[in-house]
Amino acid sequence: MGLQGLLFISLLLFSFPTSEADPGSYRRRNYPAKSAVLNGKENTVEELASDEVTASDLELVNVANYGAKGDGSDATEAFNNGWKKVCSSSSSAALMVPANENYLLKPIIFSGPCRSNVSVMIKGTLQASSDQSDWDGADGRHWILFAGINNLHVAGGGTINGNGQIWWKNSCKINKSLPCKDAPTAITFYSTSNLVVENLKVTNSQQIHVQFEKCTNVRASHLTINSPSNSPNTDGIHITSTRDINIDHCNIGTGDDCISIVNGAQTVKAMNIACGPGHGISIGSLGAQNSEDHVSDVTIDTAQLTGTTSGLRIKTWQGGKGYARHIRFQNVNMKNVQNPIVIDQNYCDSEKPCYEQKSAVLVSDVTYKNIKGTIASDTKIDFKCSKSVPCQEITLEDINLVKADGGITKSSCSNVRWSQKGVLSPSTCA
Ligand SMILES: *[C@@H]1O[C@H](CO)[C@@H](O)[C@H](O)[C@H]1NC(C)=O
Ligand SMILES: *[C@@H]1O[C@H](CO)[C@@H](O)[C@H](O)[C@H]1NC(C)=O
Repeated sequence: MGLQGLLFISLLLFSFPTSEADPGSYRRRNYPAKSAVLNGKENTVEELASDEVTASDLELVNVANYGAKGDGSDATEAFNNGWKKVCSSSSSAALMVPANENYLLKPIIFSGPCRSNVSVMIKGTLQASSDQSDWDGADGRHWILFAGINNLHVAGGGTINGNGQIWWKNSCKINKSLPCKDAPTAITFYSTSNLVVENLKVTNSQQIHVQFEKCTNVRASHLTINSPSNSPNTDGIHITSTRDINIDHCNIGTGDDCISIVNGAQTVKAMNIACGPGHGISIGSLGAQNSEDHVSDVTIDTAQLTGTTSGLRIKTWQGGKGYARHIRFQNVNMKNVQNPIVIDQNYCDSEKPCYEQKSAVLVSDVTYKNIKGTIASDTKIDFKCSKSVPCQEITLEDINLVKADGGITKSSCSNVRWSQKGVLSPSTCA
């Protein structure tokens, strides 16, 4: 995040009320079983939302009742007003976005803290404005931003469409004569805890699709994320400064990393992930501009990568500090992946060439276990580690990556201390 974004978010957080609006009048209610489901079983919320069931202690706030039209016209104000109602409710409350409707939203912030547990049930479609000037004077890094909320559930089976085409066209990665600037992330969760995000489709984001930043205790599940393979920097799920996050049953195909895990990510588990097209699953990049970055305790378990440019990748810049450690990639099946297993300590995604530097982010305790399938290049393993800070405790166990045409594969393993377990196909780091 740029400095501008940080400043913006700190202003935003400082402007949150620090306590209940009127603590004196707030009485804890006895919640019947029905409303206790808000953050648990989504079906029950959906049943409750079907108008046939009434729940005295679950407040349903339908955006249609706040003037949102659902015909593709600007619904930002209606959503803002609906959210105020939800967030100030003294009992659990849900913002309801009806099915088969199409709402246009300009940049919007759903900010907490809220008085009770809150949900947003998106059944219809949210469309981003494709007028870039709607971001003038606003924070250009975000479209839909949830910030400073505890106990939030976002679900509903609907679609979030970033309409990113105009942003891609004006990206310096597509049109080299244009200056490089950031485009909005479709949906960001910032400083939010006890969060469940599930059953949503996020498509054609302006840049990153779904971002978790400074969040704690997150479950992201059953998300379908897609944009074209040539859309620039459209990471699927981006995790930064976030701990205890579980991602499962997500199907991601974009123009950049399916999942990117960067500085401050701790205890991340991703299971049952389908990825492709895209750049694979990445840790990093870390250590850019001599920064000190930390990532630890990451498990990627049970994934299918199809046609991606990289598979499982750790990327760090020269000159950085910190570590990426306690990382496990297991039970991964690849199909036609260009660079299946990569540690790149010479990562350099800048216009200027990078020069050799002594310090580096330490990469240690990384296990690759039961990694199988076909590769689209000749190189199945590519470890480019730093001379001064070699990669350590790298374990390769049951690796079987082959060329679809049966051709010979090779590995390139420099400055890496690794050990073997189980069975490796020939010429694995030999
Ligand atoms: C609020 O959410 C938390 C979990 O995030 C849950 O333990 C608690 O029971 C919920 N409270 C209500 C009133 O639904
Ligand atoms: C690239 O940007 C320049 C400067 O705005 C513009 O003149 C040109 O038409 C653009 N090229 C394409 C292919 O869009």
